[in-house]
Amino acid sequence: MRTIQNVQAMRAWSREARKEGARIALVPTMGGLHAGHLSLVEIARRHADRVVASVFVNPTQFDRDDDFAGYPRDLARDQRLLAEAGIDVVFAPKPAAVYPEGAVTFVDVEDLSVLLCGAHRPGHFRGVATVVTKLFTIIEPDVGVFGEKDYQQLAIIRRLVRDLCLAVEIVGAPIVREADGLAMSSRNTHLDTPGRAAAVCLSRALLAAETLVADGEHDGATIEAAARAAIEAEPLAKLEYASLVDAEALVPVTTMIDRGVLALAVWVGKTRLIDNQMLVAKAASAERRSA
Ligand code: PAF
Repeated sequence: MRTIQNVQAMRAWSREARKEGARIALVPTMGGLHAGHLSLVEIARRHADRVVASVFVNPTQFDRDDDFAGYPRDLARDQRLLAEAGIDVVFAPKPAAVYPEGAVTFVDVEDLSVLLCGAHRPGHFRGVATVVTKLFTIIEPDVGVFGEKDYQQLAIIRRLVRDLCLAVEIVGAPIVREADGLAMSSRNTHLDTPGRAAAVCLSRALLAAETLVADGEHDGATIEAAARAAIEAEPLAKLEYASLVDAEALVPVTTMIDRGVLALAVWVGKTRLIDNQMLVAKAASAERRSA
C-alpha cells in the first residue's frame, strides 16, 4: 500500500492504473477510521480493481472551530487499518495542496444543502461538495463509495455528480451499527460513559418509528412525534431535528404513501450525532413481498 500526499503524484498513479485497464474506486474519509469505513472499503473492492482511500480532515466543512480542532487525527493508525483492509493507495494531502493559497472556488448544491443538517450547519455541505469534487477531479475514480449514515451527504453527492456531468458511479453503503444499535461514527469517541449509554436513544427512536409504520401509520407528524418522544425520554440527549423526508428531494413527507427517510440529529453533551432509517409504508412493503 502506498501513501501519496501530492496531488500530481496521485493523479499520475490513477492515470497509470487506468492505462493498465484497472477500474478505480475511491472511499473518501476524514480518518478516525472504524468498522463502518472498513465496510466501505469492502464494498469498494467489489466494484473496482484498485481502491484508493482519502484521509483528509476537510477544514471547509466544519462550522465550529472546536469540532475541527478535536476531530480524531491518527494517520499511522488509519494507514495500518487501510493496509489490513487491502487498500492500494492512501491519499493524505496537506490542506494547502487541496486549497491552494487564495482559493475562492466552491461547489454548492443549492437546494439540498439548506435542508436538515444544512439548516443547522451553515456552509457544511458547500465544504463537503467542494472537497468531494476536488477528490473526484484529482483521483478520477470510476466509483465513489459513501456511507448511508450521512444520508443527506450521499443525496448531495449523487446530485452534484448528475448536475456536473461527472463520470463517477456513486455507491451507497449500509449503516454499520454497534451491538446496541448505535450507528458507528468517528465522533462516538467523544462520548463519555453516560453519553455513550444515552446515545442509543437515536436507534431506539428510529425503531419506535419503524414499528409504528409497520403497524400501518402513514401520518408524517405522528411518525416524527414517536421518534421525538424516544429522544426526549433520554435526559442527556437534546433533539436538533427528527424529520421524515422524501428519499431523493429531502423535502418533508406529510403522508407516507410509499417510503420516506426518517433523519435525526441529536446532541449528547457536546457531541452531535446523526442517524436515519428508510421507512417503507405497510401497503408498499406488502406489495414488494408479493411481487
Ligand atoms: O463523510 C465524510 O467523512 C466527509 O464528509 C467526506 C465525504 C470524506 C468529505 O470530507
